[in-house]
Amino acid sequence: MLPTPPSFEIFLSTLPGLEPVLAAEASAMGFPDPSPVPGGVVFAGGWPEVWRANLTLRGASHVLARFASFHAAHLDQLDKRARKVPWGEILRPDVPVRVEATCKRSRIYHSGAAAERIGRAITQELGAPLDATAEVVIKARVEDDLVTLSLDTSGEPLHRRGHKEEVAKAPLRETMAALFLRQCGYDGAEPVLDPMCGSGTFVIEAAEIAAGLAPGRTRRFAFEQLATFDAAAWAAMRDVGRSRTPTVKFYGSDRDAGAIRMSRANAERAGVSTLTEFQQQSVSDLVPPPGPPGLVMVNPPYGARIGEKTALAPLYRALGQSLFTRFAGWRVGLVTTEAALATATGLPFLPGSAPVPHGGLRVILYRTGPLR
Ligand SMILES: C[S@@+](CC[C@H](N)C(=O)[O-])C[C@H]1O[C@@H](n2cnc3c(N)ncnc32)[C@H](O)[C@@H]1O
Repeated sequence: MLPTPPSFEIFLSTLPGLEPVLAAEASAMGFPDPSPVPGGVVFAGGWPEVWRANLTLRGASHVLARFASFHAAHLDQLDKRARKVPWGEILRPDVPVRVEATCKRSRIYHSGAAAERIGRAITQELGAPLDATAEVVIKARVEDDLVTLSLDTSGEPLHRRGHKEEVAKAPLRETMAALFLRQCGYDGAEPVLDPMCGSGTFVIEAAEIAAGLAPGRTRRFAFEQLATFDAAAWAAMRDVGRSRTPTVKFYGSDRDAGAIRMSRANAERAGVSTLTEFQQQSVSDLVPPPGPPGLVMVNPPYGARIGEKTALAPLYRALGQSLFTRFAGWRVGLVTTEAALATATGLPFLPGSAPVPHGGLRVILYRTGPLR
């Protein structure tokens, strides 16, 4: 088998419905020709692009490096061909790995057996130990007798930014929040206000974007454990520091005192506390902050059960009333599960975005133009 090429397919995974938004982010960040595909975005690149994607992309859940593919019609062939993969170019003999396999429309149909053969090839050819809890994960996809080997270069999912410890009851993932901000046309230049901020996800993401802070600046990644890792090049890439001082601020409020404490602690850890203001307040008392209008981003409570949905309509109505009467010039992005709840706000929403799976539900982003 040929050595790993300098350029291979890089797959950015995301939630279904958000692929085009992530492709737009990757394109804006200068990655070459990112194309949306079901469940993610693909483009060609090498290891430096893998590191940069992990460090800088706000919307990707994981970054996978698809480093080898070959045909295998039966397990012995898989065994033989897996041994020819230049494992030493990618993995370190001293770092444990684990292998996960899936099989579809293939003569090899037993995913456990496929994973076992690949694992054995790695231990026998390279000497790396197998460990069910290893951070380095090889993903083998067997489809139509074609085996594709990928490495999950992220490790922990990328919504774990590494500087957020306090989490509210129903937090939005940071990756989703960032893509919803992008869908609302947020580019870091305008203020953002979340009147039901919970743990502060929208407010902190928006402040970080405005300040030019890379989302992965404080966390570690699985790629740091690979043979391809260049610590000096990575340190130089990560050490770009703060590139902008925003001229606007980012506001969060919530009626729950605990949520406000959490948001402040999270903003502090993220290094954006001077850019953010949080206060305990109900949506009915909401007034716009001083300064130019911007974007209201909000993820109100949504009831999973029928009775809860009806009970929530007055809360959505109160939110809509405050925004409609006091927030002229602001745009609104509202994330919820029910069209009827969005309608209850009375706000002039454009057609909703594609539904996105979230915690067993499907959430939809509703957007307005500037309110009049
Ligand atoms: C789904 S959570 C928001 C989660 C948040 N997006 C996050 O990522 O952590 C909804 C929030 O609305 C708040 N809330 C409910 N009723 C409210 C009201 N009348 N005024 C202000 N906040 C309210 C709750 O305290 C809760 O924190």
